[in-house]
Amino acid sequence: MNNNQPINKPSFALTTPLYYVNGLPHIGSAYTTMIADAIARWYRLSGHPVMFVTGTDEHGQKIQRTAEQNGIPPQEHCDTIVHSFQDLWQKLDIQYDSFTRTSADKHEIIVKEFFQRVSEQGDIYLSQQQGWYCVGCEEFKEERELEEDKHCPIHTNQKVEWRDEENYFFRLSRYQQQLEELYESNPEFIQPQSRRNEVMNFVKQGLQDFSISRINVSWGFPIPDDPKHTIYVWFDALLGYVTALLEEEDEVTLENAIKKWYPFNLHLIGKDILRFHAVYWPAMLLSAGLALPKQVFGHGFLTKDGRKMGKSLGNTLDPFELVDKYGSDAIRYYFLKEVDLGEDGDFNEIRFINKVNADLANDLGNLLNRSRGMLKKYCTNIFPSINEVNIDADNPVKQIAMVLPKHIREAYSSYNFNFLFTNILTLISNCNKYIDDSKPWALFKNGDQKEVEIILYVVLESVRFSAFALAPIIPKISNKIYHQLGYEFDFNNKELGSKIPISEEHWQWGQLNINPNLPEAEPIFAKLQLDYDNNNKKP
Ligand code: MSP
Repeated sequence: MNNNQPINKPSFALTTPLYYVNGLPHIGSAYTTMIADAIARWYRLSGHPVMFVTGTDEHGQKIQRTAEQNGIPPQEHCDTIVHSFQDLWQKLDIQYDSFTRTSADKHEIIVKEFFQRVSEQGDIYLSQQQGWYCVGCEEFKEERELEEDKHCPIHTNQKVEWRDEENYFFRLSRYQQQLEELYESNPEFIQPQSRRNEVMNFVKQGLQDFSISRINVSWGFPIPDDPKHTIYVWFDALLGYVTALLEEEDEVTLENAIKKWYPFNLHLIGKDILRFHAVYWPAMLLSAGLALPKQVFGHGFLTKDGRKMGKSLGNTLDPFELVDKYGSDAIRYYFLKEVDLGEDGDFNEIRFINKVNADLANDLGNLLNRSRGMLKKYCTNIFPSINEVNIDADNPVKQIAMVLPKHIREAYSSYNFNFLFTNILTLISNCNKYIDDSKPWALFKNGDQKEVEIILYVVLESVRFSAFALAPIIPKISNKIYHQLGYEFDFNNKELGSKIPISEEHWQWGQLNINPNLPEAEPIFAKLQLDYDNNNKKP
């Protein structure tokens, strides 16, 4: 590999939401972050410079109250919780480029500068705010959105609270037409399609200005020139994305923050916070004269055993426990494969174990094992020197495999993980079938050595290609497979692809001459076992 080759692909900047630090990270935050990480890894592997932003949203009433309940100052509370996010991301092999915290001093400077810009446009004014407020969502709710007895539909264990106070407002209504034009002329701006429709219907009903300050919350930044007001947590949090782009040595200004990676290519979020990202945020940016993100993608919600998750419901899924029990690759694989991106999805521990074992241990792992076994037996462990040109055009695996590189790129660039997995699993199952049908053991007995070598090449190259294509999702397993095939690639090296070029043969099928001297065969994925002590149910 050549280390110093300049690469001129366009950069790709993406974000997860900035997570509230009122409690430890939950599976919902882990889900968004795993998807974003897979996308970021794919772009890096493809040679794009990547800026992957994540972080924490630390202000507002929800966090202020949690800190009060714990009897500690809010900053101290945030400083403790933030580590659990960073720990979890490490355990899950998340490779972010910037971790931003909204309580940082530099963020205050950015928020104030932005506020000033919006204010100079005449988009901020003082008025009276009346309405039902959900502290869990940090959002005013319409009366008609509420469930029985004034409960929030998302935070069903919490009642909304009545507010009647003087607030600063942002003139959202002024941007109605520009937003409608944006959605019309950029069908990709909000994805998937169902969420786009949802937002367009909402905006069509007429946009109302929204309040961007609070007088009963002290934990936040004061409004410039009127410090009895605190800036509304969402107005502050969205700007955390911009602050994240500042380089260490930069003077803290908006201009510096947007000089390199801005605007964002993708804000990946859950469907519950779509309005903030697809309506409020672009309007705020239009007002401040900043460029808009290219896309907001709203994924679905996860349930556990078919039921909504929540602490008060006694139905949570602890991501720390999951990763400690089963390892990061299995978790990453399950959530990316079994939940269609954009749709709601469910987690059930038995199904999880069965699916992961079936795909990774039985299909992929076993294919590698059996072909490595045959290589030892029939080729004295020396890899034959063959490539795609030696393989007949009607070879059943070749026919499938030759179009795969194109499909894989399409799948990743459209975040269609379903298409990705279908392609790879089809390749793997066809390889297993190909071995069964072509019976290399019989060919070997007959002395058809060349035929045996072709079969083994076809299969091992397919396993290699699968490992490459799945590396953004299961990097540890991909590393092991590559090692088994005589390559010392480290898919956890963030520079691989974006700074260390990868030769084109890895992207193709059938171009690679596998190292003839392979290391001893080892299993790449140990089957997961259900922990019966912690599960009353049997599979
Ligand atoms: N702090 C705001 C985001 C500000 S972004 C400038 C926030 N934080 S959050 O911690 O409450 O939520 C973070 C993400 O977790 C959201 O994208 C939300 O959709 C996601 N999830 C929360 N529960 C979820 C599930 N049960 N399933 C999937 N994702 C869910 O909102």
